[in-house]
Amino acid sequence: MPAVNNSDSFIESIVTSESFPFNAEELEAAAKKNMSTAAFGYTRSGAGGEETLRKNTSSFKKYSIVPKYLNDVSVADTSIELFGRIFPHPFLLAPVGMLKLSHEDADIAVAKAAARYHIPFIQSTVSSYSIEDVAEASGNSPKWFQLYWSNNENISYNMVRRAEKAGYEAIVLTVDTFMFGWREEDMRNHFSPLKEGYGKANYITDEVFQSTLQNESEESVIQGILNNIYHPTLNWKHVKELKKRTSLPILLKGVLHPEDARLAIESGIDGIIVSNHGGRQLDGVISSIDALPAIAKEVNGQVPVLVDSGIRRGADVVKALALGADAVLYGRPYVYGLAIAGQEGVEKVLANFIQETKVSLALSGAVNIKATREIQIVKE
Ligand SMILES: Cc1cc2nc3c(=O)[nH]c(=O)nc-3n(C[C@H](O)[C@H](O)[C@H](O)COP(=O)(O)O)c2cc1C
Repeated sequence: MPAVNNSDSFIESIVTSESFPFNAEELEAAAKKNMSTAAFGYTRSGAGGEETLRKNTSSFKKYSIVPKYLNDVSVADTSIELFGRIFPHPFLLAPVGMLKLSHEDADIAVAKAAARYHIPFIQSTVSSYSIEDVAEASGNSPKWFQLYWSNNENISYNMVRRAEKAGYEAIVLTVDTFMFGWREEDMRNHFSPLKEGYGKANYITDEVFQSTLQNESEESVIQGILNNIYHPTLNWKHVKELKKRTSLPILLKGVLHPEDARLAIESGIDGIIVSNHGGRQLDGVISSIDALPAIAKEVNGQVPVLVDSGIRRGADVVKALALGADAVLYGRPYVYGLAIAGQEGVEKVLANFIQETKVSLALSGAVNIKATREIQIVKE
């Protein structure tokens, strides 16, 4: 992986930013103008009273970086290695379902934008385009598949098999969404994107799912999805069985308790994603950044630990890496870029985030990602 010359990248950040919104708040405000009230509400909101949604960003502010200087960071290496693959930046794109709510090109646009920067794109089960269509759009660029378990287990295994065949390199099993959180914004807007068919692409292209349908009507498809996606029976036996069914590495997304991280490793899981689903599931849960240190300690380097929920700035990446993460997942801001200007919008958001991350890592004194572990963080 080529090293990065920070003076060049800093100049590039100024040029590529133009008048496009820079920060998450500006992106959110601009996206709001381009989206329907219901679509924007679905994307922005959190569960319950949005305590966790707010905590996700405010918690980062409790941690302060204590930088070290005089390290010669003129050539800094921001690359990471996960499961034998090297990626140029220490972040991946979080799985976000129903992206057609933001833009017609949805996952295709995001996959292409991610490919431009060799950033792994994690495609959602409830995506707007199928596993195979997204694979084609992303070409040889790295991609992972996020699995929502199906009550009919054979649908889960078949989707994983399809992902493996289409060149996806890891499976992300989301464990915190066996039922949907209490989302008042959507109730207020009388909005259920799943019921409106926004997340059906992977189901209607799945031969096992098709074989379970009463008939081919839209109602039958939607009912079939709803019957499968509510899966409160999900347990460790399923995780172990899934592990037997694929040769791809499996990560569990939504882990907040160190004990679950330990059980995951005992079940043969290959990676942990510390996440509270962007505050969209159980309101009142711990912020991911607060949950991270204890989980990193428990995992103790046995498998990679990733984190998401509230990553907005380069300094957030530095804090997460210093507190024990191997990489982070970037979420809502890229979705807002998509809503503003499709693929180009996502590319602009990513270009800024890449440069801000590079500058932040260099200014913290880290010459590479490994060195971020030495960065001192104080908690206020
Ligand atoms: C609109 C929206 C849809 C999402 N859909 C999914 C999904 O299909 N699967 C999943 O595992 N996580 C999903 N997530 C959660 C993200 O993967 C990630 O955990 C979250 O966005 C992190 O919070 P942040 O974006 O505020 O940083 C979704 C998040 C949003 C905002």
